[in-house]
Formats: sequence, C-alpha cells, structure tokens
Amino acid sequence: MAAAGPTEVVVVGSCMTDLVSLTTRLPKAGETIHGHKFFIGFGGKGANQCIQAARLGAKTLMICKVGKDSFGNDYIENFKRNGISTEFVGQTEDAATGTASIIVNSEVKTLFNPAPAHAELDPQFYTHADIFCCNESEAEILTGIPVGSPEDAGKVGLVLLERGCKLVIVTLGAEGCVMISVDEPIPKHVPAGKVRAVDTTGAGDSFVGALAFFMACYPNLSMEEVIRRSNFIASVSVQASGTQSSYPYRKDLPQDLF
Ligand SMILES: Nc1ncnc2c1ncn2[C@@H]1O[C@H](COP(=O)(O)OP(=O)(O)OP(=O)(O)O)[C@@H](O)[C@H]1O
Ligand SMILES: *[C@@H]1O[C@H](CO)[C@@H](O)[C@H](O)[C@H]1NC(C)=O
Ligand SMILES: *[C@@H]1O[C@H](CO)[C@@H](O)[C@H](O)[C@H]1NC(C)=O
Repeated sequence: MAAAGPTEVVVVGSCMTDLVSLTTRLPKAGETIHGHKFFIGFGGKGANQCIQAARLGAKTLMICKVGKDSFGNDYIENFKRNGISTEFVGQTEDAATGTASIIVNSEVKTLFNPAPAHAELDPQFYTHADIFCCNESEAEILTGIPVGSPEDAGKVGLVLLERGCKLVIVTLGAEGCVMISVDEPIPKHVPAGKVRAVDTTGAGDSFVGALAFFMACYPNLSMEEVIRRSNFIASVSVQASGTQSSYPYRKDLPQDLF
C-alpha cells in the first residue's frame, strides 16, 4: 500500500531487469559453460533507491521508461507492490526494457571478520567464510583460549578449523599474524616488520582491507604472500596517527607491493 499524503521522494533514474547466472567460473569469449542457478531480479540504481525509500515509509514516485514487454510489465507490478506511484513510468514500443546480464562466479571470496565478537557466534559463519580473520581478543572470546603468542594463536586456529573454517588468520599486533588452513593444518607465523608504532588504532581494519585488496586484485599470490604484504600495509598505518588518516595510498607505498 502506498503511504498517504503528498509525494516525499521522486526518483528519476534507471530501472533494469537483472538476469543472474551462478557459475563456477566466468566463460572465455565465445565459450559456452554450464551454470548451476539462474534468477531474475529487479535492479537499476534509481529503482533500488526508490524501493529502499518506499520500504522505509516514504511516499515515492518513480520517473523512468520501460519497454512494452514482459520485463516492463513485471517491473511496473513490482513498483506497485512496493507502494510506489507509477503514474510517470512510461512504456515504449521503440525499445526493450533494460536488462543487465550478471554472472556471479564461485571465485568471489568471502572474508569474515567477527568484530565485535560474541561467544555464541552463529556456527554458519565458520563454515561459510573462505577466510576467517580475527585479532587476539576476538580469538579469546570465540574459543576461550587467551592469546599472547604465536603458539596460542596456532591453538586458536586449530579449534576454528574444527568448527569448519577453511582458513584462519589471527592477527597479533607487532607480532604480525598466524595463519592455518585445512589444506595445511600447521600454524604458520608471518611476522610483521619492526617499525616505530605511533598509533595502532585501526591497524586491524587496515590489515583486513589490504587482505581483501590483494585477494581480489592478485588472485595468483599465495596466501602467505598476501598476508606478508597486508602486514606491511598495516605496519605503515601504525606509524601515523588516526584511523583512516593513517591508511597509506598506493602511490606512497613501495611499488614492488603491486
Ligand atoms: N606495532 C606494530 N608493528 C608492526 N605492525 C603492526 C603493529 N601493530 C599492528 N600491526 C599490523 O597490524 C595488524 C593488525 O594489528 P592488530 O592485531 O593489533 O589488529 P587489531 O587488534 O584488530 O587492531 P585495532 O583494534 O587496533 O584496529 C597486524 O597483524 C600487523 O600486521
Ligand atoms: C580486537 O578487535 C576488537 C574489535 O572487535 C577491539 O575492541 C579490540 O581492542 C581488539 N583487540 C586488540 C588486542 O587490539
Ligand atoms: C594466474 O594464473 C593463471 C593460471 O596459472 C594464469 O592463466 C593467469 O594468467 C595468471 N594471472 C595473473 C594476473 O598473473
């Protein structure tokens, strides 16, 4: 049902039908591959914003044009279901409703950082994340094991592997971190360089951000190398004060990191 009263939010923007295929990998040019799932979704940035505003209770109106085709008809129905005025949603014979073909491959990795940690974390987080990255205090909350050394972090790693984690990283401040994986269930200490720390606030987020960057942009690097580089970036961040203000830019870092 549309909210009563005058229109509060008018969105002029795109309205697209998403055609989403889930595959194990992306096809090469001209190649046909099997997908394991397909679904149609309502998308487009303008329409998304309008839907969110409507769901929060705003009286909304969308201005856009769709094709006189089944995707267009369905989209208008979707606006109506969400209580959005479709008075200015046009339909044309001259063009098709916009579609976006989206392929989601299984190579998109999930990195989970249990912050703030709760002892009763839903066990699915252990099994669903590709990488489970926590600091010393989070490790203790989750496992009950106090962490003061790389050896302790190794014990935490083994417990988390038993809970279904595939790869665990425990960060140890100036000591760098410890990694352990199902493929190689022997804890490996990856030390950080010796630096003069000024302010370690936000070092953990710098580390996790760097980890995500290297995993996404340099998928061929070994995890140990990804961690070594992420340690380096985080150790740069502790040499300046503040959180985001201490995060280095690519142009200011040694270029052999990239
Ligand atoms: N004193 C330090 N010297 C060098 N590197 C450091 C130092 N402190 C932190 N780091 C780097 O930052 C990473 C994350 O640090 P830490 O384990 O303290 O995370 P955190 O406790 O989540 O940080 P915070 O909560 O302060 O943001 C470490 O693995 C290491 O790479
Ligand atoms: C670990 O991260 C938590 C946030 O979840 C933070 O409150 C805590 O201070 C961090 N622990 C250490 C040892 O820095
Ligand atoms: C990564 O490795 C694959 C397979 O070995 C190779 O085909 C690809 O070119 C490499 N990518 C990069 C960016 O080095």
